[in-house]
Amino acid sequence: MTGPRIPIAPDGRLLFGGDYNPEQWPEEVWTEDVRLVKEAGVTSVTLGVFSWAKLEPRPGAREFGWLDRLMDLMHAHGIGVVLATPTSAPPPWLGRLHPETLPRDENGQTVWWGSRQQFAHSSSVYRRFAAAITEDLAQRYGHHPALRMWHINNEYCTFDYGDEAARAFRDWLRRRYRTLDAVNEAWGTAFWSQHVETWEDVIPPRRAQYMRNPTQVLDFRRFTSDALLECFVAERDIVRRHSPAHIPVTTNFMPFWTGQDAWTWARQEDVVSVDMYPDPRDPLGGQYNAMIGDMTRGQAGGAPWMVMEQAAGPVNWRGVNHPKPHGLNRLWSLQSVARGADAICYFQWRQSRQGAEKFHSGMVDHAGEEGRVFAEVKRIGAELALLEGEVAGTGVTADVAVLHDWESWWAGSQDGRPSTHVVYEDVVRTWHRGLWEAGLTADFAHPEHDLSGYRVVVVPQLYLLSDAAVDNLLAYARGGGSVVCGFFSGVADSDDRVRAGGMDARLRELFGIRTVHEWWPLDPGQTVDCGEFTGSLWSEELTAAPDAEVVAAYRGGELDGLPAVLRRGSARYLSTLPEPSALRTLLADVAAEAGVRPPLSGLPAGVEAVRRGDVLFLLHHGTGDVVVELPSDEGPLRDLLTGTEHSGSVPLGRYGVVALRAARGGDRAA
Ligand code: GLA
Repeated sequence: MTGPRIPIAPDGRLLFGGDYNPEQWPEEVWTEDVRLVKEAGVTSVTLGVFSWAKLEPRPGAREFGWLDRLMDLMHAHGIGVVLATPTSAPPPWLGRLHPETLPRDENGQTVWWGSRQQFAHSSSVYRRFAAAITEDLAQRYGHHPALRMWHINNEYCTFDYGDEAARAFRDWLRRRYRTLDAVNEAWGTAFWSQHVETWEDVIPPRRAQYMRNPTQVLDFRRFTSDALLECFVAERDIVRRHSPAHIPVTTNFMPFWTGQDAWTWARQEDVVSVDMYPDPRDPLGGQYNAMIGDMTRGQAGGAPWMVMEQAAGPVNWRGVNHPKPHGLNRLWSLQSVARGADAICYFQWRQSRQGAEKFHSGMVDHAGEEGRVFAEVKRIGAELALLEGEVAGTGVTADVAVLHDWESWWAGSQDGRPSTHVVYEDVVRTWHRGLWEAGLTADFAHPEHDLSGYRVVVVPQLYLLSDAAVDNLLAYARGGGSVVCGFFSGVADSDDRVRAGGMDARLRELFGIRTVHEWWPLDPGQTVDCGEFTGSLWSEELTAAPDAEVVAAYRGGELDGLPAVLRRGSARYLSTLPEPSALRTLLADVAAEAGVRPPLSGLPAGVEAVRRGDVLFLLHHGTGDVVVELPSDEGPLRDLLTGTEHSGSVPLGRYGVVALRAARGGDRAA
């Protein structure tokens, strides 16, 4: 566990609902909303996310009447409320009266009001106004019987390069390094005459003539994540002061987003929540959804987590915004439950008719209650009610950990590196795909987390590894764990300084690498022949230690005969990215050797099996009909969604899902 957790579903009921923006609608519509909310089995709505101007139309004014009526209305109908602080959308008057609350971009340009999230995180005026509205909101509703959870701000994501941020950045650096000498040392300012002589010389990495100092950029990213976290913590502490201890506090992460070190943030939350928007046209959208689930569960330390937002149909921020084909919303919702979510929520309840998101779907879209989207929403609501008694509060077992770290991502994604075609997110996703296709359930973990509970640790790419992380990995390997590590890992230390020899010496020893001579990144579309498979993106000129086994070698070209995959004991290093089927096979072999068994083997292509608590979920990501063979040693299994008992095999149609557990004497007949 990474921190104290408060159950999402203390009453055993999964949360099902969405962002409700009733201020966009006349009050007559609220009555219809209540009827439809109940029809859909919605258990909670999120209120107030962007309501600051409605609550405080003028500085210091308070207009709570409309929210009083809504809170009471929800309570009267047994609907819970996830109440948001409105601080991600300051009203225009705040920027007009206090321009220093508006962030500046890298070019020094003001980010104006007219959209949302135009707040300078380090502005003391912004923080004062945000705290004041939060205080009054919390005081008024902290004990309201409808309140289920606090939702702070929304998708914290602003960067600020302005003067107040510069001062806060200096303070942050003082805390980290204490002296300017230490800053100069860490940033390597001997390079290009960047020596900083006074603290005033230290600025955010604003627009510059050419490539900027990479450690300055790295530290600015660390600082930005921490500064935003301070805003969260300040509001969290206010709402906690005014609410009973069983009301959890969360803020919604964007999925796998670069701006926030979610490992650090998650430790400060009672519930970890995330927004999930796979592209319905992506043939691997289901794998992406699984990956975000696995990552969020990791951040929650294995505790149940929350889908704060997903789309019932199309979003409106891609080039082409495709609807979800019939059944896909249900499939991905149940997939999140299977991977540990205790809350399935949407952006948003009712599709807007005005504003920038009027073409973004809602649970009730423009077609209204007659629409296909609402019909599927009702089905999901009904099915969650069938599942909740069996799954709420339970965990997902994973024997494999995927290591991921924001600091490494930030450091490894900057200008001036060997290849701009190596995109960290894509590399991680490719490795997760290998595990997913091999049917292996994986948690995400931070490289300094305790890994002893896992049999296999996978490192897709950790360019930067702290000394503590290296120690951790070595201790894990010494304890008998299997490590599989991808290229361009262990290269830099915490200051983004390249380690002597091009890769940490102890890691080289672990993997049986004698010398790393040179990296040979590949062009887009270029592949290297590695014998039984081809590699892409990267290759390396390295030599093997005498006791290492060369599992695969490059054939032809400059690297002919040199190791592509190297192994020493149960540690393996891949100096290229194997094609997906080869990566899947390799990971399956490593897992099998380490005694890890998928929840169900021999699955047809596109079928995912995950075990949560006592329930085995089978999720079919394809549109044809398939038959899944069930384990012969288990008795009849009951599908909790239909009540049907299955023995021997179970058929799955287009986007089909079954939630199976051992049939019990007391089960009612289907
Ligand atoms: C984010 C935001 C929502 C909404 C959706 C649209 O997740 O939090 O307010 O803008 O995107 O997809």
